Amino acid sequence: MGVEMRIVLRNYNKIDNSKIDDYIDTGGYKALEKAYNLEPIELIEELEKSGLRGRGGAGFNTGRKLRFTHGASGEEKFILCNADEGEPGTYKDRVIIQGDPHAILEGMAICGYAVGAKKGIIYLRAEYPYVADILKTAILQAKEKGVLGDFQIEICMGAGAYVCGEETALIESIEGKRGEPRSKPPYPPVSGLWGKPTAVFNVETLANIPQIIEKGSAWFAGIGDPSYPGTKVMTLTGDLVNKTFIEVPTDTTIRDIIYKFGGGIADGKQLQAVQIGGNSGALISPEYLDTSIAFDAMQKIGATLGSGAVFVTDESRNLRDVVCRISQFFEHESCGKCTPCREGTMRIHDLMQKICTGDGTKADLDLLTDLGEMMEVSCFCGLGQAAPVPILSAVKHFNLLDEERG
Ligand SMILES: Cc1cc2nc3c(=O)[nH]c(=O)nc-3n(C[C@H](O)[C@H](O)[C@H](O)COP(=O)(O)O)c2cc1C
Repeated sequence: MGVEMRIVLRNYNKIDNSKIDDYIDTGGYKALEKAYNLEPIELIEELEKSGLRGRGGAGFNTGRKLRFTHGASGEEKFILCNADEGEPGTYKDRVIIQGDPHAILEGMAICGYAVGAKKGIIYLRAEYPYVADILKTAILQAKEKGVLGDFQIEICMGAGAYVCGEETALIESIEGKRGEPRSKPPYPPVSGLWGKPTAVFNVETLANIPQIIEKGSAWFAGIGDPSYPGTKVMTLTGDLVNKTFIEVPTDTTIRDIIYKFGGGIADGKQLQAVQIGGNSGALISPEYLDTSIAFDAMQKIGATLGSGAVFVTDESRNLRDVVCRISQFFEHESCGKCTPCREGTMRIHDLMQKICTGDGTKADLDLLTDLGEMMEVSCFCGLGQAAPVPILSAVKHFNLLDEERG
């Protein structure tokens, strides 16, 4: 433990991302060839056995999602790559694409073969136009070399809203509509893009697939925490000595991430709180540092792994300000489709502004808790369900009131 392991970043800074031959020289596109020699269902079984779970936040078993899409009836099916990466503090998908664009294309083509889809679309964060250029070059070269067979990939630039990363809002957005979540079920594997069976995967999930097919499911299942095997790319921000990105096995502890890879707290200060998974992650207090980042381990302490963003605040930060900024983000990003999220995010921000002025009371904290708990169970999509998480955790583990009111 405490050592980096690079699977999806194995070629980062080692190959030229504008040259397909560099990727091929490292064994690239061999996994796709291997996949073609398997029956689609064998391929799906291999991915299921690997234990790979989504790296986009929900942690769903990747092989199972492929199985559902494979089993859905329909002539036309789609593979979507979610590269919207709207979570604040997260830039891992950008780094993965920049380091190894063909790994994503190969992962998408393998999934296409598994479910019987001939078309893939990469939904790319609007703020990443230069990444679009990298992907366009990669797609063109793959087409010229004929390595993708009859699987076609195109890019769709994102609409610039956080909610568009939610898979059904993403689908709406590709269809040219306003990015708002759909009611589920039906889930995308049954009825997704244009009502056709669709599998949506995060960039990091897809980048793992060629390696799993090449090296085998047992190899992958043996890495990290067995309940969430493999590695996770983490992006480190905030009051750390090293603001960087790392790829580590999933049994790595939060402590190692902060003190070993992050170099500890800058300027010799003490840790106050760490938030993992972006703005929708819980604020974790130092007593939980020995928890591993594995999806289920994080859930057990009321936190999430989410996108893998690690935001650290030192003792000198005013946590009320931090929480207030987070609540402002959610008020701004709520799409407004459902009342609990539209009104709830606004009320949470109002209450946090009051608390920030020092006028907050114990009754305000109780109201925040009631409101947050109501939103977790009644909001229409993950945005509103997760928006109260940082707030509720801050109320539970930290003192947000002035001393005399606390
Ligand atoms: C508000 C919201 C934003 C999301 N943003 C992203 C995102 O930027 N990238 C991503 O891969 N998944 C995002 N997700 C999760 C997706 O809905 C979906 O679970 C994921 O793309 C599935 O891929 P995976 O199984 O490979 O993780 C978001 C979810 C919600 C609720």
